[in-house]
Amino acid sequence: MGTSLKYLAVCALCTISTSTAIAHTSNEKNPYIVHRQGIYQVAGGHMNTLKSILMLGHPAKADISYHAKAMLEAFKHHGDAFPEGTHKGKTHAKKSVWTDSEGFKEQGQMAGKAIMELIEVSESGDLKLIKTKFAGVGKSCKGCHDDYRKKGS
Ligand code: HEC
Repeated sequence: MGTSLKYLAVCALCTISTSTAIAHTSNEKNPYIVHRQGIYQVAGGHMNTLKSILMLGHPAKADISYHAKAMLEAFKHHGDAFPEGTHKGKTHAKKSVWTDSEGFKEQGQMAGKAIMELIEVSESGDLKLIKTKFAGVGKSCKGCHDDYRKKGS
């Protein structure tokens, strides 16, 4: 494949994701809300891509490790994602994020652990095991969302 064609393909993807992200966050001006949602979108993108590889048969098996590591890396850049006062605005964070900050933190740690477990097996070639760890990550996302994120988006 020529370089120019590759470049075009990559750019087409950029346009789509950028415009979607802008449409989603256009009304929100609180930098913390926009920042944390952006990081979660990155994680969500990697999870979708992993789903295509692990559940739908996309051939990019060599990229499983990349997506798992990049997801962990994204969360490392979350920083202070839920400071006081950022419950107001276009956010889906429930009040419980602040009233039960210990539980919230615990869910975050569990998700980090689940992602690390996925990374550990990601180059093993054992698809069954990788799928199990991938499901574990999915459960950890859902576990937090059930308690700390409002339904609908
Ligand atoms: C510790 C709790 C927690 C964990 C763990 C967690 N999330 Fe979330 N997630 C949230 C909260 C809270 C929001 C709502 C943020 C807001 O709207 O301000 C959110 C929002 C999102 C969004 C929507 C972002 C947007 O554009 O509004 C996506 C996508 C998402 N999470 C994906 C994931 C994925 C994928 C994982 C697992 C790899 C994950 N989350 C793990 C708490 C969590």
